[in-house]
Amino acid sequence: MKYYLKFVFLYTVSCFVTVATHAQDVPVKNSKEKPISPDLFGIFFEDINYAADGGLYAEMVQNRSFEYNPSDRKGWHSLTAWKYLAEDFAYGTLTVETSEPLNENNPHYTVLNIEDEGQGKGGLGLANSGFDGMVLKEGENYNFSVWSRLFSESAVPLRVELRDKEGKVYGHTTWTAESTDWKKYEARIAVTQSTDSAYLAVVAKGKGKIALDMVSLFPENTFKGRANGLRADLARVIADMRPAFVRFPGGCLVHGDGLENMYRWKNTIGPVEERVPQKNIWGYHQTAGLGYFEYFQFCEDIGAKPLPVLAAAVSCQNSGGTWRIGSIGQKAMPLEDMQDYIRDVLDLIEYANGPVTSTWGAKRAEAGHPQPFNLEYIGIGNEDKITPGFEERFKMIHDAIREKHPEIIVVGTSGPSHSGEDYEKGWEFAKRENVALVDEHYYEKPEWFWNNRERYDKYDRTVPADIYLGEFAAHDTDRKNTLRSALAEAAYMTHLERNGDIVRFSSYAPLFGRVGHTQWNPNLIYFTGDKVLRTVNYYVQQLFSVNRGDIYDPGLVSPSGRGKDKKAFVVSGVKDSETGDIIIKIVNGEEGELGADINLSGLDISKAEAECILLTGNPVAENTFEAPETVVPETRSLRVNETFTYPAPAHSLSVIRIKL
Ligand code: AHR
Repeated sequence: MKYYLKFVFLYTVSCFVTVATHAQDVPVKNSKEKPISPDLFGIFFEDINYAADGGLYAEMVQNRSFEYNPSDRKGWHSLTAWKYLAEDFAYGTLTVETSEPLNENNPHYTVLNIEDEGQGKGGLGLANSGFDGMVLKEGENYNFSVWSRLFSESAVPLRVELRDKEGKVYGHTTWTAESTDWKKYEARIAVTQSTDSAYLAVVAKGKGKIALDMVSLFPENTFKGRANGLRADLARVIADMRPAFVRFPGGCLVHGDGLENMYRWKNTIGPVEERVPQKNIWGYHQTAGLGYFEYFQFCEDIGAKPLPVLAAAVSCQNSGGTWRIGSIGQKAMPLEDMQDYIRDVLDLIEYANGPVTSTWGAKRAEAGHPQPFNLEYIGIGNEDKITPGFEERFKMIHDAIREKHPEIIVVGTSGPSHSGEDYEKGWEFAKRENVALVDEHYYEKPEWFWNNRERYDKYDRTVPADIYLGEFAAHDTDRKNTLRSALAEAAYMTHLERNGDIVRFSSYAPLFGRVGHTQWNPNLIYFTGDKVLRTVNYYVQQLFSVNRGDIYDPGLVSPSGRGKDKKAFVVSGVKDSETGDIIIKIVNGEEGELGADINLSGLDISKAEAECILLTGNPVAENTFEAPETVVPETRSLRVNETFTYPAPAHSLSVIRIKL
């Protein structure tokens, strides 16, 4: 009843006026229309499945600072991904040492003691295999850098080569280690031929003793040419989605495997060699090379709002693998540490938005960005177990943000599921504390999404909190990215549009998976060292994001004839008030063609131009590296009338865009 009253009220006051609702101020013109959050479709980036290190972060050297260790992964050590080279009768030792490090955050380095530099082209040194071999492209440049320190009297000349297993050299440079203090050397290597399996060799060409650390190789061609930048192809595939926001850096990565493993943003800014690396909760190593500055910069580069998530001062409830034995591994930060922790949270806001004269704003400026990053939202917590320890700490952080930064909108959390104890308790708590947005997560079978596509229709509109559907995906048999799973997501997303007055954000999860290094399937985008695979689910996310509107109008489209009684047939009609375009989405998950009645009456269609983007195929089809275009969107032009029936093919998503 409350829900009904809210709508009667909303629709009454919204006639021909602009109303402020849960969604932003949107010019709603008649009683049928409903405002939609303009930020409804975005992305969630987490360093899972090698999404950052070995993925979006363009660093090509693996274990560049010799900090891998067995707590990252059993069997890993300082020389993982490295090999000792003693070529052409060169003779000497390679050791890992810690007594005179580059800085305290980067304790390990390697020492080459060259007793005989050999007689041929080779020498004594070390080689890095990168992440499954390094991909080099003909005609492109690569930026090599290294920190070194001389421990012997005479300077040591070194040669850097990009080689393949047969010893063929694709590019090289030389430098001389001559400083007895740690010093950075940089060089550009021009590559003459392409390969996908190169390695980096650094060999000494003279006697002596030198220390090496932070051995690094980046393509010059990073996304937007940024230093310490991102892999251009992977960044581009995200940019092509035109996401309204980016949630980062996790996920479970944020609250961490125990308190010590919690993601601390201050450890991830400043010079890369001073950042604090740590074990990644997903079972590998996190360099923090892709840190908060790079995340903010990337958001700006692709025109997306940043949505950073910080831990609610409790660790993941599955810490220490406790999910296996059913106990709770959530650890709460000691209360005496909370003031410092809250300071960190507030400092992040200053880092993003503060003037260059402020302590943290100055650090942003030092990194090359004096202008603010315009942070509007902060997530606190990630699907945490709702315990008294969580509630106490969340409240402390939330109160402090509201007091010091009432302009920042806080996103709370409601556990790892669409229902159950944490969901109930999470929402109760959020209502009690007046949290502005609540993050929901769920991964379910495709049928679940079809069956629950009225979920948010039933949400109580009198509750002030909006919804962020922060993680969702339809998991088909064998966790494959089938068209069937993508259509279930599409159907559900039409219901997100219809409820865009209270659902402010949504994002599929996870985003990336590096082939051979996944901890989670399915993912939206798969990649190797040089290939990117857009799954069918990717195209659904992209089509909704690129074709979002800010006004929902139920009068624009409705199922026709047989379609009215079909379970797996949904339609949605929105308007984009900026362009004036009408956008219709039709999802047909049934076996046969079904019609959708489109009604443009009352609109001037004399100059209308329309196109239909169609995604269709076999419901169990998926895109693979061998057949990446098995199911891809196809665009055709469409003739429109004031009213007409669109025939939606079986197993399809149709997006019709009408320019008036
Ligand atoms: O998206 C993968 C993981 O799923 C996230 O890290 C976590 O929040 C959820 O359990």
